[in-house]
Amino acid sequence: MAEEYPRLRWGILGTGAIAQTFARELPQSRTGQLAAVGSRSQDSADAFAGKFGSLRAHGSYEALLEDPEVDAVYITTPHPLHAEWAIHAASCGKHLLCEKPLTVSLHEAEVIAKAARDHDVFLMEAFMYRCHPQTAKLVELIRAGTIGKIGLIQATFSFQASFNPQSRIFDKKLGGGGILDVGCYTVSMARLVAGAATARPFSNPNQIQGHAVLHPETGADLYAIANAEFPEGVLALLSTGVGLNQKNGLRVYGSDGSIHVPDPFLIKPEGGMIHISRPGQAETERISVPADRPLYALEADAVGEAIRAGRRESAAMPVDDSLGNMAALDEWRSSVHLIYESDLPIP
Ligand SMILES: NC(=O)c1ccc[n+]([C@@H]2O[C@H](COP(=O)([O-])OP(=O)(O)OC[C@H]3O[C@@H](n4cnc5c(N)ncnc54)[C@H](OP(=O)(O)O)[C@@H]3O)[C@@H](O)[C@H]2O)c1
Repeated sequence: MAEEYPRLRWGILGTGAIAQTFARELPQSRTGQLAAVGSRSQDSADAFAGKFGSLRAHGSYEALLEDPEVDAVYITTPHPLHAEWAIHAASCGKHLLCEKPLTVSLHEAEVIAKAARDHDVFLMEAFMYRCHPQTAKLVELIRAGTIGKIGLIQATFSFQASFNPQSRIFDKKLGGGGILDVGCYTVSMARLVAGAATARPFSNPNQIQGHAVLHPETGADLYAIANAEFPEGVLALLSTGVGLNQKNGLRVYGSDGSIHVPDPFLIKPEGGMIHISRPGQAETERISVPADRPLYALEADAVGEAIRAGRRESAAMPVDDSLGNMAALDEWRSSVHLIYESDLPIP
């Protein structure tokens, strides 16, 4: 049967790890198809195209953005380059899915948001977990008062990478450090849950205060914690890192019980799982939340479906939500004196 809508033709900007994951899962989306890739080098673009089927391989990002047969661009460079290429892509009339964190700072994120508005293109920050039914179920449970009034949120996303001063994980010129790389997930989750707890799509903290251990050579944050205070008596404890393995997960404590999500962000292909415990009940209730497509196919479809409906943002991760996230990350970074080049005044 012929499809009612043409598929959204995707161009991927960059050929690194996440670009490859997205390219692998995109064929299982319902709305998209991979049309082209752009790399700083023709060899990398050709190798990528060779791996993922018949797509056009451009040897520069500019050439990708000028490709008339690309509708939407997925920005997958290290974070400090997101703003430049997202703004350029918007000016070429391309819809935008931009990797997390949207940028290094709120200021840059506001400039991307303005460029998307000015050029009337779609914009979403690529928080893929927001597009998975496990996250929708979590929000539904909190909103329904399943564990009563929410008091405390604990979110952890951390890993230990082997040290390489030139990698984007540790090089501050490439946005290195845990707060921006994976702390951004914990902030976005706490803001989502605090919002659901207070009948809002998301909530912004009144205050964030953090601590961090910085790498002695590169200055990137190896591991960090923060406490956040949200409106209406909701508190959060966040923990992150690129230099320390921790027990990742989400726990939410309410007046009538608690919720534990073991895999809140990198949700397994077989589906999600939410555990609910209540005082006085020995048994934990387990809610399984399967998905009919892989995580990044769901993300591509959140974009594709919104664009088909004529919208310029997705309810999964609205632009104001991204701006609130960047503001919170700025505050966390500021409290631990973690400064990037783009924070400094132009000389
Ligand atoms: N949503 C997720 O699940 C997820 C997972 C991992 C990462 N991410 C995000 O995606 C972005 C990329 O992460 P990644 O792990 O894919 O990084 P990566 O493997 O290092 O790839 C980054 C790519 O960006 C391009 N690039 C442009 N300028 C660069 C520069 N100066 N140095 C290095 N690479 C440069 C390169 O592609 P070309 O050489 O082809 O130009 C490179 O392959 C980050 O913002 C990260 O936070 C998201």
